[in-house]
Amino acid sequence: MKKRILRDIEVSEVGMGCMSFSHGYGQIPPEKYSIEAIRNAYDHGCTFFDTAEVYSPNLAGIGHNELIVGKALKDVRENAVIATKLMLHGFSTGSVYQTVRKHLEGSLERLQTDHVDIYYLHRMSSIPVEKVAEAMGRLMEEGLIRGWGLSQVDVDVIDRAQQVTPLAAIQNIYSMVERDSEAEIIPYCMEHNIGFVPFSPIASGLLSGKITPQTKFEKNDDVRNWVPQLSGRNIAGNQPIVEMLKGFAEKKSATPAQISLAWMLHKYPNVVPIPGSKNKERIIENLDSANVELTEDEFTALEDTLNSLKVYGHRGLGGF
Ligand SMILES: NC(=O)c1ccc[n+]([C@@H]2O[C@H](COP(=O)([O-])OP(=O)(O)OC[C@H]3O[C@@H](n4cnc5c(N)ncnc54)[C@H](OP(=O)(O)O)[C@@H]3O)[C@@H](O)[C@H]2O)c1
Repeated sequence: MKKRILRDIEVSEVGMGCMSFSHGYGQIPPEKYSIEAIRNAYDHGCTFFDTAEVYSPNLAGIGHNELIVGKALKDVRENAVIATKLMLHGFSTGSVYQTVRKHLEGSLERLQTDHVDIYYLHRMSSIPVEKVAEAMGRLMEEGLIRGWGLSQVDVDVIDRAQQVTPLAAIQNIYSMVERDSEAEIIPYCMEHNIGFVPFSPIASGLLSGKITPQTKFEKNDDVRNWVPQLSGRNIAGNQPIVEMLKGFAEKKSATPAQISLAWMLHKYPNVVPIPGSKNKERIIENLDSANVELTEDEFTALEDTLNSLKVYGHRGLGGF
């Protein structure tokens, strides 16, 4: 697969979000299946894998997902780029550096590795971002992380952090129906050589065209029950966008999910989406969006149609 660069870290053009093997989209698959799915993605050319310390069933406990990612990539570690995230809730004793380092040591052990490639702060806390940036800079000097990032932040926070320790990537929500980052954040990242990693890039499945207003989500640990964009009314309201994608997909012999990913790949050179799926075939389908080339005319037509359609609801940010 073609490659992109997040500051100085080379990754496949499309990465893989591993969260749903542990949390967020209902029943989790057996561990053996999840490990095979990650290895299949690697064998298909994916070299960029996204996890977080908090990805565990019902967000109870720590590290379920990191353990799976660690097992899956153990013997190809040197060719894989692993991104994980820490959540800071304040620190009672010790410095910010010591607190961040303690979280990192836990992740390193679960991931069976001696370094993390991109270490993100998962959400802002009361700790000033400058302090976190300083700690991340020290961990980079020590060779424990190659680069660092922030998740779901605005441009002021990014700029304050960037002044202290240059960032490798920003991971924010971004898709055809969540385009807030286009105004300031993606341009800032382009100007400062920072990668932009969209999470929920197919809008939690909406842009695949497989969800209808009648779709019932699972009862347990399924974020789609509270994602406002996926209420029956909003799914119905967003059908013109889904229909537009279906039309394009048919013309390009691709799928709607692939077109939505190809659109952002075409639009920005520093964007590397990390679609998530619990399904081996869909994971490959999403990775293959890197092979869907849009012409300039096709891109403009997509963009114009998108700009003319109202988006109903938003993703909501209650989850991780
Ligand atoms: N930084 C953060 O705060 C944050 C927040 C959320 C997520 N993330 C990261 O971003 C990754 C992706 O986000 P996400 O999983 O929330 O959203 P997503 O990738 O937009 O969508 C995932 C949903 O779409 C479905 N899907 C995926 N590909 C499909 C396809 N080709 N056809 C039909 N349905 C498809 C999946 O169902 P199936 O499983 O049934 O295929 C799943 O229900 C996560 O794995 C995680 O690593 C980060």
